[in-house]
Amino acid sequence: MSTELDIEIADIRRLTELIKDKYGYDFRDYAMSSFRRRIKRVIELYKFKTVDKLIQVLDTTPSFFEEFISEITVNVTEMFRDPTFWRVLKEQIIPNIIMNHDRISIWHAGCSSGEEVLSMVILLYEMGFLDKAKITATDIDTAIINKAKTATIAQKNMELNQKNYQAAFGVEGAPPPNLRKYFRDVGQEAVFDKSLLQNVTYRKHDLVQGPVFSKFDLVLCRNVMIYFNQNLQNAVLAKLHESLFKYGYLAIGSKESLIWCDIANKFIVVNNEEKIYKKIKD
Ligand SMILES: C[S@@+](CC[C@H](N)C(=O)[O-])C[C@H]1O[C@@H](n2cnc3c(N)ncnc32)[C@H](O)[C@@H]1O
Repeated sequence: MSTELDIEIADIRRLTELIKDKYGYDFRDYAMSSFRRRIKRVIELYKFKTVDKLIQVLDTTPSFFEEFISEITVNVTEMFRDPTFWRVLKEQIIPNIIMNHDRISIWHAGCSSGEEVLSMVILLYEMGFLDKAKITATDIDTAIINKAKTATIAQKNMELNQKNYQAAFGVEGAPPPNLRKYFRDVGQEAVFDKSLLQNVTYRKHDLVQGPVFSKFDLVLCRNVMIYFNQNLQNAVLAKLHESLFKYGYLAIGSKESLIWCDIANKFIVVNNEEKIYKKIKD
């Protein structure tokens, strides 16, 4: 490393090798530029000054590892992110699944602090299908999964969430739908109505090293693979494919694509704008 902020590929490699050997997590195929930025951030935040120091702390202080994971993962999320995506779920995808199966199992892979999950719960509740649903929400980051379990959202984020909700489901000429009815105010937090979360399970799961653990009708893995290189995207997509029933749906982020992936021929595009795909081959 030439200066404290100039991190070489070799430094990253030493770091990821240590993490793999000592903790069993594999970050070797995370997209280099964003991963390097996050490492830099950790070094600055904890005033480690060098990658060597970070490696040494990770080697000698296992209790630091969970904190490290929280810092290097990008947890940015919002309710009803990409409102038009949620409209397509409501009008096309969910009715189609329910029509064929009379139930729906959903996996939010990389759910972060759970805003995507709460959005899904609200959507299913409003459609009258919440009691037919089984929802599993997972993330690699223990702290963020624990946050998701609290189903609380900072008041300062509620305005954007409301705006998205309105953009997704508002009807011209009708009063705007009000997201606040699902929350109660507790100081700086808006707390979601927990009675609606009975069919939701939160758990820690690593998409890279973790197993395929069930089959789903709908998998949302949005804005997660954007941090992976092509190699890792292929590997994770193979797992997502295996986690879907035949004719199940996969939704990825608006800036992501299946086009270049090994598994592309096992899916058809259902909605190219919203990045929704349907599994057509095992
Ligand atoms: C930007 S958030 C996306 C949240 C939500 N899906 C959305 O679109 O708003 C990305 C999430 O992926 C998680 N993540 C990163 N690597 C992961 C992995 N290997 N396994 C599971 N989750 C992972 C991060 O911890 C983070 O919470």
